[in-house]
Amino acid sequence: MKRTSRLFTHSLFGPVLKILFREGKMPSLVNTEIEAAVKGFLIDQEKMTEVVERMTKEIKMGLAKDTHSRAVIKCFVSHVQDLPTGKERGKYLALDLGGSTFRVLLVNLLSVSDVEIVSKSFNFPVTLMSGSGKALFDFLAECLSEFCHYHGLQNESLPLGFTFSFPVQQQGLSKGILVAWTKGFSCEGVVGRNVVTLLQEAIDRRGDMKVNTVAILNDTVGTLMSCAFYHPNCRIGLIVGTGSNACYVEKTVNAECFEGYQTSPKPSMIINCEWGAFGDNGVLEFVRTTYDKIVDKVTPNPGKQTFEKCISGMYMGELVRLVVMDMVARDLMFHGTTSEKMQERWSFKSSYISDIESDAPGEYRSCNKVLSELGIVGCQEPDKEALRFICEAVSSRSAKLCACGLVTIINKMNINEVVIGIDGSVYRFHPKYHDMLQFHMKKLLKPGVKFELVVSEDGSGRGAALVAATAVQGKAKL
Ligand code: BGC
Repeated sequence: MKRTSRLFTHSLFGPVLKILFREGKMPSLVNTEIEAAVKGFLIDQEKMTEVVERMTKEIKMGLAKDTHSRAVIKCFVSHVQDLPTGKERGKYLALDLGGSTFRVLLVNLLSVSDVEIVSKSFNFPVTLMSGSGKALFDFLAECLSEFCHYHGLQNESLPLGFTFSFPVQQQGLSKGILVAWTKGFSCEGVVGRNVVTLLQEAIDRRGDMKVNTVAILNDTVGTLMSCAFYHPNCRIGLIVGTGSNACYVEKTVNAECFEGYQTSPKPSMIINCEWGAFGDNGVLEFVRTTYDKIVDKVTPNPGKQTFEKCISGMYMGELVRLVVMDMVARDLMFHGTTSEKMQERWSFKSSYISDIESDAPGEYRSCNKVLSELGIVGCQEPDKEALRFICEAVSSRSAKLCACGLVTIINKMNINEVVIGIDGSVYRFHPKYHDMLQFHMKKLLKPGVKFELVVSEDGSGRGAALVAATAVQGKAKL
């Protein structure tokens, strides 16, 4: 789904949107006990302001040299200091690992209006997510080789940008140490290692292509760069997909963990916040529910990525499922029984939330489809209303927390106008996410601050190529 971007200021904001979201109002068909069960997800303005305050503190700790080691929001230095000029040219390869699919891309930057992208998605065997690091990187190299041979690129010395969407401590554009796995990955022997070396070694082991990994980047950075190629005022990159995170353009002098922060001739540095870890020190307990705690326990990284687990697509569906199962156990939904499928962990996909909320009020076409996929039969309108209500509770908390994060960053940057490049399945496919984000940001921002939320296309393609271009040009100058 492609969205057109819209620019809103406070004055343009009317009461219209208020009725779009059933803020605090309970639909009549929903049982009061169900209403009480989801109450924990409904965070009010006061709590949102508190989230912004707490997050501001954590971001400052991440940026400062003295506090960085104990900060939960790490604010990693990306080593990307140049936003695109629109003059970048050339042919680059890109790898994209970190979401629900693995992709290999060939990007040809011909002109600002002509960027050719050829890509292939590969089925990513789930067993690889928890296997050995060697198996993972051998698989990436194998897919890359297949792609290069298919397109006759095996003898070309092409630079490669590696979009690796996990928390990485970068020591340069082409050196990044994995700090922790997230989003269900747990491959052995990778944490603490330079992932560029691991990838390049796997490529070289094959000896059947001439690819050179010149840059590693986070998906948020690719998203920002890709958006900035067309929107010069883009200063923030956001992902709300399987995981969630944001990056932004900071003054180099504030990026204290960058060696040259006081001497660099370049005024800016993109900071990869890694905001998913916000709350890992307990400061977000006031917006978490008992269901969040259950989800957390069954993930491979309990106690970690607290903010992400409240926001992103990997977890939203499971949150809904847990609430529903609780309501069924209390005989408040589906006549107290449910399907085998619904009893399986992670069986309620987050995309179902988008589907269910796409139905017009009083209609249940998508909802019925979801219910039938889950093997739930014979439910009545109040059940469907309740399901929709639970979905809305989970998705609106996600959008509110995301709005808090963006407002924290905008306040920290102290700017009055900004474009935010966004990617990720939740933002793209949820029918109201964009509007909810916009609505809550408006409520939290200082009057007069203008922002534009823009879908950023091909962050891991065009964005990765732009970062690789920076790396290649940087080397040429040395
Ligand atoms: C990772 C981030 C990434 C985000 C979105 C998180 O789990 O830690 O590096 O940007 O997911 O993909």
